[in-house]
Amino acid sequence: MYSRILGTGRCLPRTIVTNQDLVKTIDTSDQWIRERSGIRQRHIAADDETTTDLAEGAARNALEAAGIEPEELDLIVFGTTTPDQIFPNSGVILQSKLGIAGIPAFSLEAACTGFIYALSVADKFVRTGDARCALVIGAERISALVDWSDRSTCVLFGDGAGAVVLGLDEEPGVLATHLHADGTYKDLLYFPAGPGKDFRRTSDSHVMMKGNEVFRVAVTQLGKVVEETLERNHLDKEDIDWLIPHQANIRIIQATAKKLQIPMERVVVTVDQHANTSAASVPMALDVAVRDGRVRRGQTLLLEAFGGGFTWGSALVRY
Ligand code: ACO
Repeated sequence: MYSRILGTGRCLPRTIVTNQDLVKTIDTSDQWIRERSGIRQRHIAADDETTTDLAEGAARNALEAAGIEPEELDLIVFGTTTPDQIFPNSGVILQSKLGIAGIPAFSLEAACTGFIYALSVADKFVRTGDARCALVIGAERISALVDWSDRSTCVLFGDGAGAVVLGLDEEPGVLATHLHADGTYKDLLYFPAGPGKDFRRTSDSHVMMKGNEVFRVAVTQLGKVVEETLERNHLDKEDIDWLIPHQANIRIIQATAKKLQIPMERVVVTVDQHANTSAASVPMALDVAVRDGRVRRGQTLLLEAFGGGFTWGSALVRY
C-alpha cells in the first residue's frame, strides 16, 4: 500500500511587499535582489494572520481539492518553525480550527525542510495502516523572525502556507523520501533564542545567516540528495517530469537543475513571487503547478528542500 496525494492547497497573506517597497526602508535595490536571489516580491502576514490561520486556508483548499471532509482525516502533521505559540502545538490549533477532535495532531520543526520531513512522517503512518487520510502542512510566518533593518536577510523571506491531503491507495503515490541533517552546521543559519535556552532574549533576536556559506553547502547537499534519490529508486534523470525545489534562491535552484540535467522548463519556480517561505515553499510550489495544469496525474515529481540545521531531504512522488 502507498500514500497518495489526493489534493493540494495554499494560502498566502493579503499584503504583497515588492522589492521597490523595501528600497524605501533599507539600502538595497530591486536589481540586487533580483540578480542575487530571483525574488521580486513576497507576501507578509498582518497581525491578524497567524501561521495556523494561513495553514487553515491551505488545509481547506487542499481538502476541497481532494473531496475530503475534515472529519475524514485521521492524522495532522504540521511542519513549521514559526508556531503561533509554544504549545498547544500548531497541529492541535489547526485541528480545533477545522472543528475536529480526537485524531493525533503534532508539529515538527526542521526549518525549510519541515514539509519534506512532515510528508515523510505522514507517509509512514499511512503506508503502515496507522492512518488512512492525513493532512500534511508546511506553514510559516517567518517575517516575525527577521530583522527588517538587516538587508542581508530580510529581502529573502516571505510568509505562507501549503498543504496536501494524503490517502491510502494501492497505486503508488509517495514512492520514497530521503531525509538528512547535520548539526555541525548549526551556526551558519539560526535563530539564537528560545524558551529552552534564553527566553528573555527572544524579543530582540532575529534570523542569523552566513549567506555565502549556506549557499555553498545547499548547492552541494541538494545535488547529492537528488542523485541519491535517483540512484536508490533506480530512476534516470529523464524519468523526472518536474523538479519542485525549496524556493530560497533561483541560483540554488538552477544549480540543482543543472546537476540533474533538467531544463528549467521542467522546474517549478515560485521564488520570484513568494520568496523563501521556509517549510511552506515546497507545498505552495506544488499547488501552483497542480492548479495551473503543469503537474498532471501519473507524472513523477522530485521534491527537495534545504534549511537551517542543516536539514535537507527529498520526496519522490508519483502524482
Ligand atoms: N542589497 C544590496 N546589497 C546587499 C544586500 C542587499 N539586500 N545584501 C547584501 N548586500 C551586499 C553585501 O553587503 C556585500 O557587499 P560588499 O561586497 O560591499 O561587502 C555584497 O552585497 C555581496 O554580498 P554577498 O553576501 O557576497 O552576496 P551573495 O552573492 O552571496 O548573495 C545571498 C547573498 C543572496 C544571501 C546568497 O548568499 C544566498 O542566497 N545564500 C543562501 C541563502 C539562503 O538560501 N538561505 C536560506 C536557505 S535555507 C533556508 O531556506 C532556511
